[in-house]
Amino acid sequence: MATWSAPGKVFLFGEHAVVFGKPGIAMAIKPRVFVTVRKARQANVAKSAYIEECFRLTGVKGSVYVRSQLPSSSGLGSSAAVTVATLSAINDEFRLSYSREQIAKMAHSVEKKVQGRASATDTYVSSFGGIVFIAGGAKRRLPPADIQLIVGNTMISHNTGKLVAHVAKMKESYPEIVEPILNAIEGVAMKGIHKFQAPKELGMLMDINQSLLDALGVGHPQLSRMILAARDAGAYGAKITGAGGGGSMIAVYNKRHKNKVVKAIESCGGKTVITSIDSEGVRKEKE
Ligand code: MEV
Repeated sequence: MATWSAPGKVFLFGEHAVVFGKPGIAMAIKPRVFVTVRKARQANVAKSAYIEECFRLTGVKGSVYVRSQLPSSSGLGSSAAVTVATLSAINDEFRLSYSREQIAKMAHSVEKKVQGRASATDTYVSSFGGIVFIAGGAKRRLPPADIQLIVGNTMISHNTGKLVAHVAKMKESYPEIVEPILNAIEGVAMKGIHKFQAPKELGMLMDINQSLLDALGVGHPQLSRMILAARDAGAYGAKITGAGGGGSMIAVYNKRHKNKVVKAIESCGGKTVITSIDSEGVRKEKE
């Protein structure tokens, strides 16, 4: 029997722009998915298409038990975390000797198979943890920083593929408008790299990034309500994280205002999690 866990993720800057080769910054967060795999002659019915595909890809049979601290369809990378943890638990239980790098790549291919398209960022961040700089196809871990966030989940599920397609269509129809917006998001991400220790400025840059995401049409009235309420309650800044159109928002806060910001988001109907960086990535748990 092997139990492994993998963290969720947020985008600090650059979601959507990364799809067009612009830089982005993502960070692993504390809530995790725990997966236990045990060798079995007869495979149990898999609980999800992701898990089923992990077993198909590795060609082994086993039973699976999943415990998740990450809500699904929330834009926090729960499917990537399930996939990374399942592949790692299979890898351990069946002594397959895949490296972490290989697990991240396999997890991306599992997500692509199940969803049609998938973000390579989610599976990479869940595998390696920390803060990850994405530029083109390349990903690089940045030195960890003590970034504290409040995550607000709208509990409105969204379709990442449709939102990505919407931005691509906008870019095709109005390149002279959308390209400068993507360039501005790039500018924000590049400045953001130097502001991890400066929450006020980090928040201000998140606010700019949020306006640019709204301009791309990936907002949602519920996300806007929660973002404005968080800022009004004293957050340094707040933005969508991930694809938008529902899903989750994040807020950077001053410790003095933490409870006020949480209450403000919840009074708009959001579900909150107070969290911070997870610098470990996928890890083996005690049995
Ligand atoms: C989704 O979490 C982030 C997007 O940028 C899509 C992607 O990076 O593949 C919207």
